[in-house]
Amino acid sequence: MRRIDQLLANLGYCSRRDARSWLKAGRVTVKGELIKNPATKAAPEHVEVDGEPLDHPDGLLLLLHKPIGLVCSHEVREGPAVYDLLPERWRARNPVVTSVGRLDKDTSGLLLLTDQSQLVHRLTSPKHKVPKVYRATVDRDLEPALIDLFASGTLELEGEKGPLAPAALVIREPRVAELTLIEGKYHQVRRMFASQGWQVETLHRESFGALTLDHVAEGTWRELPLDAFDQGTP
Ligand code: URA
Repeated sequence: MRRIDQLLANLGYCSRRDARSWLKAGRVTVKGELIKNPATKAAPEHVEVDGEPLDHPDGLLLLLHKPIGLVCSHEVREGPAVYDLLPERWRARNPVVTSVGRLDKDTSGLLLLTDQSQLVHRLTSPKHKVPKVYRATVDRDLEPALIDLFASGTLELEGEKGPLAPAALVIREPRVAELTLIEGKYHQVRRMFASQGWQVETLHRESFGALTLDHVAEGTWRELPLDAFDQGTP
């Protein structure tokens, strides 16, 4: 049971102060009964606003097809963000909807967004070794020697403690490769190629665990059930 004004504020409907006027205006019911007192406690599934059940009262988990040009940061000064794609009410939620790990501004592809912080920790923890597949195009023809090097678990990147975990490289075309990582260090794919003299020109994340973008169009998302990862990583 939660206070109605707090519930509405946390789900991004309005401020706690505005919740008072919403209640006064008769917009909120609990089990069908008009509620006027903001301190009333109710189970979220019993609350309706303007005759509609509450919007995802238990939390959000989204699989977004990130376009290039958007950052995953919440810092306004870093420019347009993936969160700008979402409905205003979701952007106003508390806890905030945030990305599970990050993709660079210039990287497109599969990005999970959620307001469930324990899920973020679980899915980004190196312990869980969730495989992520990236498709990279590079500035000159790839060499098969990269396959063994990336798979070796000996490659070191400047500024990182210890070598990178083994990563699987598949060369699809002379300048196009798929790279599977089980960790997510800052700019990892670009830095891995750069360390060997290749410049990544385009980068796209194709999958996260068993999740793929399927038919999710760029700039849109599909909702996942909150328990999507309860049986391990799909
Ligand atoms: N590696 C990168 O270099 N960039 C990303 O966005 C993700 C992985």
